[in-house]
Amino acid sequence: PNIPPINNEPMRNYEPGSKDRAGLQKAVDEMIKAGPVEVPCVINGKAVTTGRTNKQLNPSNHASAVAVYQEADAALIGEAIEGALAAKVTWEDMPWVDRAAIFLRAADLIAGKYRYKIMAATMLGQGKNVWQAEIDAAAEICDFFRFGVAQVAELYSQQPAKHAPGVWNKMEYRPLEGFVLAVSPFNFTAIGGNLPGAPALVGNVVIWKPSPMAVLSNYIVYQILEEAGLPAGVIQFTPGPAEEIVKTCTDHRKFASLHFTGSTYVFRQLWKQIVSNIDNYVSYPRIVGETGGKNFHLVHPSANVTMAVHESIRAAFEYQGQKCSALSRLYVPASLWNNGFKDELVKEIKSITLGPVEDFKHFMGPVISKGSFDKSVGFAEAAKKEGGIILAGGKGDDSKGYYVEPTLIQTENPRSTTMVNEIFGPVLTAYVYDDSKPDFWKSICAEVDGCTEYALTGAVFAKDRQAVVEANSYLRNASGMFYVQCKCTGAVVGQQPFGGGRASGTNDKAGSISIFYRFVNQRTTKENM
Ligand code: ALA
Repeated sequence: PNIPPINNEPMRNYEPGSKDRAGLQKAVDEMIKAGPVEVPCVINGKAVTTGRTNKQLNPSNHASAVAVYQEADAALIGEAIEGALAAKVTWEDMPWVDRAAIFLRAADLIAGKYRYKIMAATMLGQGKNVWQAEIDAAAEICDFFRFGVAQVAELYSQQPAKHAPGVWNKMEYRPLEGFVLAVSPFNFTAIGGNLPGAPALVGNVVIWKPSPMAVLSNYIVYQILEEAGLPAGVIQFTPGPAEEIVKTCTDHRKFASLHFTGSTYVFRQLWKQIVSNIDNYVSYPRIVGETGGKNFHLVHPSANVTMAVHESIRAAFEYQGQKCSALSRLYVPASLWNNGFKDELVKEIKSITLGPVEDFKHFMGPVISKGSFDKSVGFAEAAKKEGGIILAGGKGDDSKGYYVEPTLIQTENPRSTTMVNEIFGPVLTAYVYDDSKPDFWKSICAEVDGCTEYALTGAVFAKDRQAVVEANSYLRNASGMFYVQCKCTGAVVGQQPFGGGRASGTNDKAGSISIFYRFVNQRTTKENM
């Protein structure tokens, strides 16, 4: 098919005085002034009010809500499933380029007409500053939709079945039999778009349960898809209580797949629930999940200190450490730590400013919720009790918004609480290793590898190429994303397929062709001529 050339959506800089700054500022101001948006469930293209409501708060100012949303219940999810299965008949038979056109059009609407609106919702609702909102809600979401189309074109063009004399063979890529359940997280509006979007692009129908803390931006994504031509019922937008929604879906005979991003604990609970139902299903469900992380930067004595410090600050504290990819354990050799690394790191962290995202000037905003605030501050306290030294931060102020200081802990125990557990907040723990012995590199790599159950992202900083080669080998299973001389966050769709192994997920690589294989049923035809 004739797919237009696909490039990453260019980033804008929102400098004061620029047209983009003025446009975005206006969208933010208007959203604050208008007050909470009423968000319905959307079933078969119709807005549904259930009478059971909840609020999405603004984490920069938790006295105000950005949305009041309707919560779906079991009965409504039942209707949503039947409606989606009915919509599937025409959706899966639609020429795939027509499905693709909807996603390309949606990307153009996001990049243009709705850029400021979706960014404002991501800033005010999810506590992202302007640059983080740009990366996520303007660029990455467009990239998922546009590269997705190119990747599906490639998938459909693959024809592994060869003909033989007198025999004609064919491979088809059909959608799954049944429906997909997409459960999306608060921390990326783009993931909100991709979890229902990727399966729908290859002809599936989806029940989409967005995070309660990202309902507004996710609803805007839904509305844009609708404006771009998504037929009624193909994606059912159903915010609400996770347990009830998920149970109704996973109890259904035609439950075909879970597309999930969230915590390891919840993913495992869902997996067990699916297993307990396995005798009921029409087909074996495809379970695709991206879950927790405890990501590392490993610094070699040959590293450029300024680079390693700078990249570590960005990886640990951008978006308040709430990316699944965020850095939270830092390994530094004593020879560097005591010769400038520590001082440079502490100085940089102390210069970070923290405040409401609508001020357009802070490197850090609030964490997402009271629970997240308590967890981050609680982990800093726990580290202190274990003998960790707080070199920066450690405290918070939740009187107006959920502000946690960028926190740096130094530990002498590489398996201390904050080295092992996922925190999902702006808390970085540094372990200083002894690099005076000849085999220090192998042993610190073994420590990095064995320290946690997770394996999402990790980075190595070294000018010594041999050290990079060895780390690449020693750490082969320690992270699904291995970065060299750069931070462990910020994977770009189409460039670094994203996903991790071990307790971090099924490693199906969002933003690449591999994810689409999980949402198709391959069907082989042989015909004797
Ligand atoms: N894809 C996001 C990143 O790499 C989570 O930071």
